[in-house]
Amino acid sequence: MSEKLEKARLYEIQEAENIPQEEKPAFHVAAPVGWINDPNGFSVFEEKVHLFYQYHPYSRDWGPMHWGHSVTEDMIRWEQFPAALAPDQEYDREGCFSGSAIEADGKQALIYTGVTTEKLPDGKEEIRQNQCLAFGDGKDYVKAEKNPVVTGDMLPEKCSRIDFRDPKIWKEEGTYYMIVGSRSEEIPGQVALFSSLDLKEWKFETILAENTTGEIGVMWECPDFFPLGDRYVLICSPQHMRAKGYEFHNGHNSLYFIGTYDKENHIFKREEPVSLDYGLDFYAPQTTLLPDGRRVMIAWMKSWDNCVINEKQRWQGMMTLPRELEYKDGKIWQHPVREIENYRKNSCSYQAVEIKEEKQLDGVRGRMIDLTVELMNAKASAGDGDYSEFQIELAHNEEHTTIFTYNRKKQTIEIDRTWSGVYRDVLCTRKFQITDDRENLKLRFILDRSSIELFVNDGSKTATTVIPTPAEADEILFHSDGKAVINVEKYDIVL
Ligand code: FRU
Repeated sequence: MSEKLEKARLYEIQEAENIPQEEKPAFHVAAPVGWINDPNGFSVFEEKVHLFYQYHPYSRDWGPMHWGHSVTEDMIRWEQFPAALAPDQEYDREGCFSGSAIEADGKQALIYTGVTTEKLPDGKEEIRQNQCLAFGDGKDYVKAEKNPVVTGDMLPEKCSRIDFRDPKIWKEEGTYYMIVGSRSEEIPGQVALFSSLDLKEWKFETILAENTTGEIGVMWECPDFFPLGDRYVLICSPQHMRAKGYEFHNGHNSLYFIGTYDKENHIFKREEPVSLDYGLDFYAPQTTLLPDGRRVMIAWMKSWDNCVINEKQRWQGMMTLPRELEYKDGKIWQHPVREIENYRKNSCSYQAVEIKEEKQLDGVRGRMIDLTVELMNAKASAGDGDYSEFQIELAHNEEHTTIFTYNRKKQTIEIDRTWSGVYRDVLCTRKFQITDDRENLKLRFILDRSSIELFVNDGSKTATTVIPTPAEADEILFHSDGKAVINVEKYDIVL
């Protein structure tokens, strides 16, 4: 083991002990100590689900990237494993960036972006991003003797050698395929496809998708590509987008394209991009296929530009709950992994409660909960005069609150975390459109201390938001400006 990896492994064991566990989420992966970003290598190996992530143990800010590692049997209880990779080679000395994993000949193969610098003829140094391999037994990994295995030189002319990262690998009929995010002088954002028979020798196949109109950001980070239902899905996370209606927000977005795939000729015909999440903290999702056939997605529950943590916190970054993906009615639906239901305790439910002005319901409170609120007559066309705005406040006390406001006429939901305890220049609101034509609006909130994941109308849309609110703010308030009627079902999540 290299000195750098040994140092990281020692450091994380010593330091993680000093972090109060109550500060951390109970059933979401979080940084052991220091900083984490993108999920990496989300995959099944020897019957367990492995999750790696971008990791800088030494501070709560981004720094030279290592790979952290957590393992689970049910995607709810996670076990901390020692750091898997450190930037300890010439070809990755600037960082082991994002990538993926696959089981190959009884070993776990990790494929990641090695970042290094190259001296140009004029003496200047320039970043180089290439794809590298490591093999392991599920805990310890050895980098391949001949790395990198895929370099920017293998791309067509005019493609960037600087922005060429985040390989996602899969195997099909004896061949390994890998897609990598990239851009070229002409195309701001594209996805390159490579193939290999042995993981070592790779061949460039094609540019699988590109940002032809230039409207979808610049560099496309963290691509993923997989069949879902009878279609194919391409996921990517474009940098520097412009807000478009309520669909996309300014900055780093994560989106998907539905399409058809001609496997022989590697042609992906795609439809328009759609946002994967409408909250304030969601980026760089990655999926894996479980042995039982479920396609599950996990994302970094943070955004690049927002720092939503407590002043004294020594760790930063969490992952979303893994979500089962379903293709239905022309789009993706997301459901919290069903295993969460095994941890539901203390059921508390109410039927047909009238909400006029403000109301709290006995037993409906908490910060580790699975809460479903069904609002009757939610259609814009439903008899007027009842109510036009309905609000739910979560993680509430005298000082703090996070508010979800449903506007019945406009069919929008607004998230507002202005009073959640944020103390920096952080984006606090986002609005999104309800697009389902349903009589009632169903809102399922999953709270795990400092996060709120909202699943709207059984997964039609999701909105993920981090709050730095102290644990004692655990009240839940309902308001309406007229007469609204709700059903409520709440469970504590107990591990
Ligand atoms: C996305 C990203 C990736 C890169 C990694 C670096 O959030 O920028 O493109 O590999 O983070 O930590």
